[in-house]
Amino acid sequence: MIVLGIETSCDETAAAVVSEQGIKSNLVYSQLDEHQPYGGVVPEIAARTHVEYLDTLIAQAMDEAAITFRHLDGIAATAGPGLIGGLMVGLTMAKSIAVVHSLPLIAVNHLEAHALTPRLTSEVKFPYLLLLVSGGHCQFLIVSEVGQYRLLGTTIDDAPGEAFDKVARMVGLGYPGGPAIEAAAAHGDADHYRLPRPLKGRPGCDFSFSGLKTAVSRVVARGEVPKDNIPDLCASFQEAVADIMVDRLRNAALIYKQTVGAGTLVVAGGVAANSVLRSRLEAKADEMGLLFAVPPRALCTDNAAMVAWTGIERLRLDMSDNLDVSPRARWPLDPNAGKTVNSGIKT
Ligand code: KG4
Ligand code: ZN
Repeated sequence: MIVLGIETSCDETAAAVVSEQGIKSNLVYSQLDEHQPYGGVVPEIAARTHVEYLDTLIAQAMDEAAITFRHLDGIAATAGPGLIGGLMVGLTMAKSIAVVHSLPLIAVNHLEAHALTPRLTSEVKFPYLLLLVSGGHCQFLIVSEVGQYRLLGTTIDDAPGEAFDKVARMVGLGYPGGPAIEAAAAHGDADHYRLPRPLKGRPGCDFSFSGLKTAVSRVVARGEVPKDNIPDLCASFQEAVADIMVDRLRNAALIYKQTVGAGTLVVAGGVAANSVLRSRLEAKADEMGLLFAVPPRALCTDNAAMVAWTGIERLRLDMSDNLDVSPRARWPLDPNAGKTVNSGIKT
């Protein structure tokens, strides 16, 4: 089985060809220059930039994979959650290709694409415990099957990626903040600044990051962060995020183990690219008796290989979508959760 994937839900324009044997091509155009002057993602500019680059990227992805549309078994595009203009661009492109070449269409949930990525690169069996951490989301879910998710906890305010991005902006490190903070933190002292760990020690596995973000902004506003101490602030902030995640993981792992017994912790989404968070979470998973899986760093942040892979997982189960499927700005993985889940839109 071989599938073309398209990702246009935020500020990455991406196309990839993936087969059951692995990734044939995986191209990402990051719209950093387009949004940089505005200090954040501008939805209208994102949509226009997807229009400008998507067809070339698809052609390149097909070339690199050395196939034509006739070789495809399906076409998968992100249909939500995300910025509606961009989603319309990618999904409409996928529908056109599906019609012209009589291919099944798979309208992919971006969060499911992050959630299933570890199965593209390693043997991860259902049901697994998923920590999904990105620019717009922070959730613990039990993934029982393709399309079957149970939400255990989510953020009650910001997502961690958003906090990384805002803290980076406060100290002039630019966007996206996660990689910049991680690099600066590598030569900083994590004990230099005392920062809060919201919800630490509380029952349940919800998250909160806004108090941490505010604490950082106060330290900066008080002039306590001269240029030489920026690495210390980054390290202290990153350590606080790690402590919060490890604390919440303890409770989530207990619920998971009570529900399904032993298994695997999977960490996915852009923030899962962070090596400090990866190793702290791996150590905690080990302590809790869980196996650990995380995608390679390049597959943590937004890409189309994860979308194509989700297409393969769904096609194998005979799951495809009608051509009248609509993009969705909001699309929670667990529709029964009864909680408001963030839209996936970065600010
Ligand atoms: O999954 P993703 O590419 O897009 C969304 O679906 O949101 O995640 C992007 C987020 C950004 O907030 C970015 O700062 C964060 O992931 N990120 C990181 C790292 N690399 C990307 N956060 C911490 N450490 C990193 N190395
Ligand atoms: Zn994402």
